Order: sequence, then structure tokens, then C-alpha cells
Amino acid sequence: MNQATAVVQIPAHVPAHMVGEYPLYLGAVTYENPFHRMVPAIHDGPEVIYSLNAYPGYQPAWVFRRAKDVQAIYMDNEHFTTKDFSPFSKLLGDTWSSVPVETDPPMHGLYRGMMNPLFTPRKMAALEMRVRELARLYIDQFKHRGECDFMQDFAFRFPIAVFLELMGLPMSNVEQFLEWENGLIHEPDLAKIADATRSVKDYLWSEINKRRANPVDDLISYGVTAEIDGRKLTDDELFGFCFNLFIGGMDTVTTNMAWHFRHLAENQAHQALLRAQPDLIPTAIEELLRAYAAVTTFRTCIKPVQMGGVQLMPGDKVAMPTTVVNRDPDIFDRPNEVLLDRNPRHVTFGSGIHRCVGAPLARRELVIAMQEFLAAIPQFQMAPDAKVLTHLGGVMQPDKLPLVWNK
Ligand code: HEM
Repeated sequence: MNQATAVVQIPAHVPAHMVGEYPLYLGAVTYENPFHRMVPAIHDGPEVIYSLNAYPGYQPAWVFRRAKDVQAIYMDNEHFTTKDFSPFSKLLGDTWSSVPVETDPPMHGLYRGMMNPLFTPRKMAALEMRVRELARLYIDQFKHRGECDFMQDFAFRFPIAVFLELMGLPMSNVEQFLEWENGLIHEPDLAKIADATRSVKDYLWSEINKRRANPVDDLISYGVTAEIDGRKLTDDELFGFCFNLFIGGMDTVTTNMAWHFRHLAENQAHQALLRAQPDLIPTAIEELLRAYAAVTTFRTCIKPVQMGGVQLMPGDKVAMPTTVVNRDPDIFDRPNEVLLDRNPRHVTFGSGIHRCVGAPLARRELVIAMQEFLAAIPQFQMAPDAKVLTHLGGVMQPDKLPLVWNK
């Protein structure tokens, strides 16, 4: 029995036989590659379970594993909300929400209307050279060594550098942002999460105030000058917009990239193919995004509803692990195999109104990182005896990725 099962009351509408163990909860760790056995095993179990610890903070949640049910929940903004799924604002006793991810229609539509132009193909093409330069900058620092810890040497810092570029913030902030990101996302201690949130808030507000005085061509200035419904954003909306970009755009890219490179390190034939035919990289990334999705999305039920054969009541939490859904055998043939030319429709970026607004940028970062890495570094593999610890939960992240190659 774990800590959660000892204290949580099971609500009356939850049939006892539906209570089940969910192995991928936040706080759990494993030394095995969770995609090999743990994730496929979930599809051998029930279509939905009520887990006592699937919601962050060892809280109970329904866990849906089938794409059909998860799609239905993503599309249903009448019975489900994203409001307040993250702890950050509440920890400071504040009133802001992450914008747009923790907002509902009709306001959500206004925020998305404001943000969609930021990630158009034209905007992304304009960023291409700078993103490539940043990838090379990091790779140049270790390419002659014959080894790297892909996490420390590349995957953590490269997406932060891209984010700083977009926000118009100096590159000298990379280390500070990495420390804050760890405090916000990977720190179990609530007091430390609150400290990191306060630091991010103070810093972002100082930058927002500078842009208010002197707007330039960056995303913070965009938020400062943007209008919705004929008015400027309120302070809460403006900060929520900056904060959502902060939590949405760095750790997710880091983690997905790490799994993609682990796959190439452990599958030499795939690595050789992408070296020989780099034009296959964008299609391969789509399959790697499907097979190694790392994010779990959450909702709260706000009106009674039947879903996947179970009764949900207001207040019930719902966990939708894209990690698991993307390997649904009802949708994908041989779901646990990586078929680099599959070109799948996956839910790695979510679905429905909250579908990831940054997906075009994420894809570009992932493609550029793989192109540049394969061009600069010869055939690589996992370091012998590498012991990788994976943190499970909301963003399933390996703690290190030691790679080696011949100098
Ligand atoms: C591989 C990298 C990424 C993954 C796997 C990912 C995944 C997701 C997912 C699953 C959602 C839906 C959340 C939900 O339905 O509750 C989402 C939303 C969002 N993502 Fe991403 N994301 C990535 C990169 C980015 C980047 C680079 C940015 C920004 C620069 C970003 C910004 C956002 C924002 C602002 C939302 C909220 C959209 C809305 O509520 O309308 N993401 N992301």
C-alpha cells in the first residue's frame, strides 16, 4: 500500500472494482525504460481505472487509456475544465491562471486568436537559422569529446536558449532558467515550488514592465501590446500568457528530444537510416513523437457525465496520459513498434481547443536538433553500463542520457 491508498476516501459513485494501480504517477521513478514494459502493460488492463494517486500531489483521478475516450474528453468543454490544474498561482495565493491552458471558452478562444499568429509557418521559417545556430553552439562544445550527457549538454539548455530568444531575454539567463524550471516542474517540495514560482514571477514582471515602457519585437512585447475584444490584457492575463509560454515550451521539448535520441542510441539501424537519408527526419520525428509521448494532460469534471462506461461527477479529476493513448492497439497497428515511415496521427500535442499552440516550434526544434546532431557527431550509442533513472508522472523524463561515439 502506498502513501495515497492509506489516506484517500473513495467517493460513493466510484465502484470499488474500478479502483486500480496506475504505475506512471508523479513521484514514481524507475530504472527500466518505461516504454518497454510498463506502458504496453497498461493496455492489457481495464479501459479506465480510478487510481488513488494519478493526479499530481498523490491525489485520485480517473485514468483513461483509450484514444476514443480521451478524444471525447478533449472535445468536451461542457463537462470538463482545465482550470487550476497547475499549483503555481495558488501556491502564491495569486489570482492569475496560465493563459490559455487553464482557461475555458469563451475566453479561451479569444486568447488563442491572439496567440495563433505567433507560431505560423512564416514566423517559424524566420526563426530557422537562429534555432540552428543555437543547436550548433551547444553541439560544438562537446562534439570532440567522444561522449556527452545528452540531457545536461544539450536537451535541457537548447530549448531554454530558443525560449529566451523568442522572449527577447539574454542568453546569459540559461542557467538561471534551468534552475527555475527544475524548481517548478521537478521539485516535489511545495515550498520550493512556491519559491521558484515567486522568482519567475518577479523576473517576468520586471521584464514586462520594461516592455511596457519600451516595446520591442519579442513575445513579451507582443503580450503587452496585444488586444482581445478591443482591450489590452489585464495584469493577470498578461502574466498568465508569459508564464504559460515558460512552462509549456521548454521541459516538454527537452523530454521528447531525450526519448528520441535514446531510441536512436538503442536502435542503430534507425540511426543509420536517418544519417543516410536526412530528408526522412521530419517524418521519423512524427513517429518518435507518437511512440515516446511524455506528457499527461489533466481535466476536472464540472458536470455529471458518462464517459467510457463510467459515471464521472463534478470535482472528479481525469488523467489522460498521451504516453499511453498513443500506443492504443485499437488505433495503431503494432503500437509498440517504431515504424519510422508510419506518419501517425497522435495526441502528443493534445487535441481539441487546447491543442498545443507551440507544436510548430517544437517540431522545428526537434527536427533541427536531430539534423545538426547527426551531421556533427558520428554513430553514437548509450554508454556501456548506463543506468538511467526515469521520473514518471506529468512529464516522463530520464535523469541522464550518457551517449558515446568514436572520436
Ligand atoms: C515536444 C514539445 C511539446 C509537447 C509534447 C507539448 C504538449 C502539449 C500538450 C499535450 C498540450 C495540451 C494541454 C492540455 O490539453 O491540457 C499543450 C498545450 C500548450 N503548449 Fe505545448 N507542448 C510542447 C511544446 C510547446 C512549446 C515549444 C510551446 C511554446 C513555445 C508550447 C506552449 C503550449 C501552450 C501555450 C499550450 C496551451 C494551449 C491552449 O490551452 O490552448 N508547447 N502542449
